[in-house]
Amino acid sequence: MKVTPGQALDILLNGGVVALPTETVYGLAGSAFNYEALEKIFKVKQRPLFDPLIVHIGSKSQVYKVVAHWPLYCQKLADAFWPGPLTIITEKHPDIGPLVTADQPNVAVRMPQNSLFLELANAVGPLAAPSANRFGKTSPTSADHVEKEFNGQVPVVDGGNCEVGIESTIIRVTELPDETLSVLILRPGAISETDILNCLSIYHKKLEVSYGTSKDAPGTLKNHYQPDFPLVIAQNSIRWNEALHKEICASLKTKESLKPVFWDFSSSDPLIVARTLYKEMREKSDEISPGSYIFLTLPIAYTKPRWVAIKDRIDKSCSAKIKKIGGFPQIFIKNKAL
Ligand code: TXA
Ligand code: MG
Repeated sequence: MKVTPGQALDILLNGGVVALPTETVYGLAGSAFNYEALEKIFKVKQRPLFDPLIVHIGSKSQVYKVVAHWPLYCQKLADAFWPGPLTIITEKHPDIGPLVTADQPNVAVRMPQNSLFLELANAVGPLAAPSANRFGKTSPTSADHVEKEFNGQVPVVDGGNCEVGIESTIIRVTELPDETLSVLILRPGAISETDILNCLSIYHKKLEVSYGTSKDAPGTLKNHYQPDFPLVIAQNSIRWNEALHKEICASLKTKESLKPVFWDFSSSDPLIVARTLYKEMREKSDEISPGSYIFLTLPIAYTKPRWVAIKDRIDKSCSAKIKKIGGFPQIFIKNKAL
């Protein structure tokens, strides 16, 4: 059900949860210091307790309520990218409870670029907010997506479409004994590896970067962001045809009599594709006749670094990948049970 910003404020002050727009995706927000609100977030999302929450702040000075230490390199990143789609993981403040961090010593913090969200976070205090979708499903980028996701049962403030369209970049930076700054990218996003290294290279000579696994960010599972029907992704050189369709249907146990819904990205710029990625994924699911699948032809540049954030989301949300091996298309099934 849609609510006004004033109603959202009341809900938050009374230990409730409300879906709010951010520049990336809609978040299911509750006070980071209210146990009842935090419990509700996990319950509404059907999210396992091992998956920690990002804490969102309304101003840069609020970071000190969330973290125990804020090294200069974190401040430099915040100066360069906040408010914006960068989440920084660092040692948690003692007042941040175990539900927020899944009982780990580190907390994830970000300042989103959305004036309504910032106002509420300034009025209420830091807000914990995962993406406002059921666990493992596609993130919402409009208030209508949230309404549909929770059958209108969750209050949501309508702030229009999210401009970035995919979740924030998550990083953890540590300083090694030889003064090298080691950047671990746990989830790629609109703020790229190059953006981060350019920012830090002004202050540090020695930098290294690596990409994390689900061990580092418990929520970044192999299957995630999933649409309601199987998504089949194909290398650019592969053309859909009846013979391939037969093989796909046999592998996925989908109905051969039904044609798939075809999907091609509308732009060769990954930042533009990101804006409507989840919206298109949902629309394709809506077009489908139950028992069929979505067939996405990947862009030629899919494996290039600029596409890393889109690739991360698509690889996790798909059920099968088709690659050419020895000149012939071969189907690789990732996840049979949707
Ligand atoms: O753009 C975003 O980041 C959105 C908007 C609402 O801000 N939020 C979002 O939250 O995507 P969520 O919960 O859907 O994804 C957060 C990811 C999860 O994979 C979680 O495991 C990881 O961040 N995470 C959160 N806190 C962490 C921590 N302390 N250590 C490691 N990973 C953490
Ligand atoms: Mg999420």
